[in-house]
Amino acid sequence: MKFFIKTMGCQMNEYDSDLISQDLITLGWERTERIEEADLVVVLTCTVRKKPEHKAYSFIGRVSALKRKKPDMIIAVAGCVAQQKKEEIIEKFPEVDLVIGARDTLRFRDIFQRFLLKKEKIVSVCLDTAFRRPSLIKGYFKGKVTAFVSVMEGCNNFCTYCIVPYVRGREISRPLDDILEEVRFLVSEGVKEVTLLGQNVNSYKWKDIDFPELLKRVSKIEGLWRLRFTTSHPKDLSERLIRCFGEIENLCPHIHLPFQAGSNRILKLMNRRYTKEQYLELIEKLRKVRPDIAITADVMVGFPGETEKDFEETIDLIKKVEFDNLFSFKYTDRPGTVAERMEGKVDEKEKTRRLIKLQEIQKQITLKKNKQLEGKEVEVLVEGISKKGGQYTGRTPTNKVVNFTSDYNLIGNLVKVKIEEAYANSLIGKYVGKIR
Ligand code: SAH
Ligand code: SF4
Ligand code: F3S
Repeated sequence: MKFFIKTMGCQMNEYDSDLISQDLITLGWERTERIEEADLVVVLTCTVRKKPEHKAYSFIGRVSALKRKKPDMIIAVAGCVAQQKKEEIIEKFPEVDLVIGARDTLRFRDIFQRFLLKKEKIVSVCLDTAFRRPSLIKGYFKGKVTAFVSVMEGCNNFCTYCIVPYVRGREISRPLDDILEEVRFLVSEGVKEVTLLGQNVNSYKWKDIDFPELLKRVSKIEGLWRLRFTTSHPKDLSERLIRCFGEIENLCPHIHLPFQAGSNRILKLMNRRYTKEQYLELIEKLRKVRPDIAITADVMVGFPGETEKDFEETIDLIKKVEFDNLFSFKYTDRPGTVAERMEGKVDEKEKTRRLIKLQEIQKQITLKKNKQLEGKEVEVLVEGISKKGGQYTGRTPTNKVVNFTSDYNLIGNLVKVKIEEAYANSLIGKYVGKIR
């Protein structure tokens, strides 16, 4: 029997999708990349904005049409839309067999086995499900150079625009030994770089182990060349965590630190619990400890009540920090959130104008930063062949994508590349030599 798995949304979903795939392989299923030959289709969905939610529905619609021609096919909808909509998914798409919420993906194996026994539809959306030891399969990660490892689930922050706390539940941290065991396993399978994952990794706490301590323990694992983590909340970025960038040798000099807005009035309405000044101070501290650190972030335009002046504060912050890259979004209402009920909704056209302006400014900054690398030698961990083909692709410690050609197979190696051309989205270089 064959399964096809489709992943949408954030890195948590990518991690969950690997967990589910390994569960299925343990049960004797085989993965296929051709949806037409699948006996089971699993989709991991995202609902952080309207767009990904609609993308999920259009995919489920397409699979439902396939099932009408092939009635034995099993459809499982998992992840954040499943958690949000519960039974409604089956009301809307009667072809769907299983609805598995974001937290219950941790129990996928049990839920799926129950389904196979009874062949009755299941909606499983418990938000208290605890971490369990995942099925780790030898060979599953073969050929993969980088991997994610979840260290915590859920979020307690309730930023007023955000649906994540409602669909991922309250924060729980994963036992230290399970994390260490998983990283050791990945390294033994050939993975060289691990990114520790959580909605707010800074608040990791397991017994007396906090996040800086967790980083230190993981970093010592023999054979782990690079360590990263995401995402950090500015309000929880401690001095100790900042110091880690100067102390832990294999911790990459890159931090993703979403700021969302530059106006203190809007930050307050968002319930972010820091000010623009505090954010700028954090950036200064990070750069003091690690001058070469790359900084990326998420930002939103058009939050309810955002005036032109507020928006200009966001632009001002962007110009002051000079981010290496930014992920920018138009605010959209999410059902059940506080911001959904706020007054002063910004017109769609105006949101678009602000977003375009912001992105244009950031593009120039990214380009300027990338251009500074022209003529310089950088370290690249080679991950694979570039999307266009014909070139190797990998990333610098600062998380910038580098493409280059070589006659040797370099996947999985750390190499030196001289940057020849810099663009906003990638760097093109010339292979210099192998480091290891
Ligand atoms: N845990 C991460 C972010 C998770 S969601 C953090 O705390 O930063 C990823 C990004 O989606 C957020 O940083 C935010 O910029 C964006 N986002 C969340 N809710 C949104 C909404 N209602 N409208 C537009 N963008 C949103
Ligand atoms: Fe959403 Fe805020 Fe939690 Fe991030 S910290 S997941 S933006 S509620
Ligand atoms: Fe989306 Fe859920 Fe991640 S809503 S951003 S998949 S936590």
